[in-house]
Amino acid sequence: MFKDFKNKTALITGAASGLGLEFSKKAASLGMHLLLIDVHEDRLKQASQEIESVYKQTGIRIKYFSVDVSNCSEMESVSQEIFKHHPTPNLVINNAGISGGGLIWEHTSQDWERVLGVNLMGVINGVRLFTPLMLKAAKLDPAWRGHIVNTASMAGLLTPPNMGIYNVSKHGVMALTETLFQDLALVTEQISASVLCPYFVPTSINQSFYDSTGVNAGPEKSVTQSQLIGKQMLDKAVNSGKVSAAEIAAVVFEAVENNQFYIFSHPHALENVRERMVAILDNKQPPDPFAKRPQIGLELKSALRA
Ligand SMILES: NC(=O)c1ccc[n+]([C@@H]2O[C@H](COP(=O)([O-])OP(=O)(O)OC[C@H]3O[C@@H](n4cnc5c(N)ncnc54)[C@H](O)[C@@H]3O)[C@@H](O)[C@H]2O)c1
Repeated sequence: MFKDFKNKTALITGAASGLGLEFSKKAASLGMHLLLIDVHEDRLKQASQEIESVYKQTGIRIKYFSVDVSNCSEMESVSQEIFKHHPTPNLVINNAGISGGGLIWEHTSQDWERVLGVNLMGVINGVRLFTPLMLKAAKLDPAWRGHIVNTASMAGLLTPPNMGIYNVSKHGVMALTETLFQDLALVTEQISASVLCPYFVPTSINQSFYDSTGVNAGPEKSVTQSQLIGKQMLDKAVNSGKVSAAEIAAVVFEAVENNQFYIFSHPHALENVRERMVAILDNKQPPDPFAKRPQIGLELKSALRA
């Protein structure tokens, strides 16, 4: 089990904002050296300078890489650089992600490539490139310990309507991480894995809905009515989130210490997962996602049918 964080190294993707930034601060506060990855160079540089200014007395080292996690060759170059010049990360948090929504048949092939590229391929790249480095370090030193956390979502365990592109990407992260856990257990006791399933948390995630920043952009296209509605609903849900990214970071580090696999930010939302599982076992249709709040369902239907 991963017990002592001090002087170990954490690699965190999506480190410039929201959850990733809070994971980075938490890791620094525990005395970990940081390898930070984000596609937004300016924000990443700023985040790393901020963390450095707070923790410079402690002697932690911070290195940042401005990289798109969905880009296989950029990620391969980073992993090579880390292999050659940095300590192998003991903690890898594959967290970078973007939002997306709208009726599932309305997305273009570029939308699918963009959202699955960041949310799923980004995590795949982290797992396929850093796990072998970690296994190598574990083999060389029986005392070496490592842990991989992948950020999925409650949308990886549920199928809320009008956000299918995101649901598909996060169900992929769930399957990937459960299998990673099983595969690691076949070959080592020194490295394990967890999956983080946040519900709505106030971060900048809604800003990536149509890729307003341009960094993950596909070709320009018009936005559909269902996508506009999806964005408004996401804005409202994210902005009214009651659990902060910093609180979730604390929960994640505690879970890593306890080798806890499933990490939930809002355990009350699990009742919806139970209902979905029961429907599967009883061979029933997927449960009504608006059963407890029918007014929201009615409003969504009438907006989409207008
Ligand atoms: N905030 C929520 O309500 C919520 C809920 C469930 C899951 N999540 C997941 O949490 C993770 C973190 O999101 P957040 O809420 O902190 O959002 P955020 O937008 O505040 O942070 C995401 C970070 O990922 C970076 N990023 C985006 N595309 C990238 C790419 N191609 N390569 C490298 N970095 C990239 C962004 O620049 C940003 O710094 C995501 O995987 C998201 O899907 C968030």
